[in-house]
Amino acid sequence: QSRSILESILATVPNAMVVIDERGHITSFSAAAENLFGYQEVEMLGQSVNILMPEQHAKTHDSYLERYHRTGEKHIIGVGRTVEGRKKDGTIFPIRLEIGEAKSGDKCLFTGFIVDLTEQKKTEAELQALQ
Ligand code: HEM
Repeated sequence: QSRSILESILATVPNAMVVIDERGHITSFSAAAENLFGYQEVEMLGQSVNILMPEQHAKTHDSYLERYHRTGEKHIIGVGRTVEGRKKDGTIFPIRLEIGEAKSGDKCLFTGFIVDLTEQKKTEAELQALQ
């Protein structure tokens, strides 16, 4: 199966990028996202984004999406948030999450950009311990 130029360009984006549809189903999972979460894109396509987060948010994330569609209120979109992600092996780790909204015709997709904060948090804890 041949890739479009856009797909080839996206494969080089250094940050983990996860794209979901309006129902939270994954439509794209970047190479950096594969490295970070330990899942291959093929196994993630069509799966719920909930797999990538700890239980507490996984249970309610569908309702966050539903609320956004109903009210249009942005809580994370355009603001970003430091939250926790969940890897395939179950590791819970700190991330910075930025969400964008992409509209094409009547279709709407959400783009999630994820930065691993594990090292940063470790350094912060080490600095705290020195004080
Ligand atoms: C909303 C957590 C990943 C798309 C939310 C909210 C939380 C959350 C707590 C509600 C915020 C509030 O009501 O104050 C998480 C966690 C993730 C994650 C812990 C860990 C992996 C993603 C990803 C995407 C995404 C990867 C998109 C690709 C959205 C959207 C909303 C939302 C569209 C609703 C709009 C908004 O509140 O601005 N998420 N999320 N989330 N999330 Fe996630």
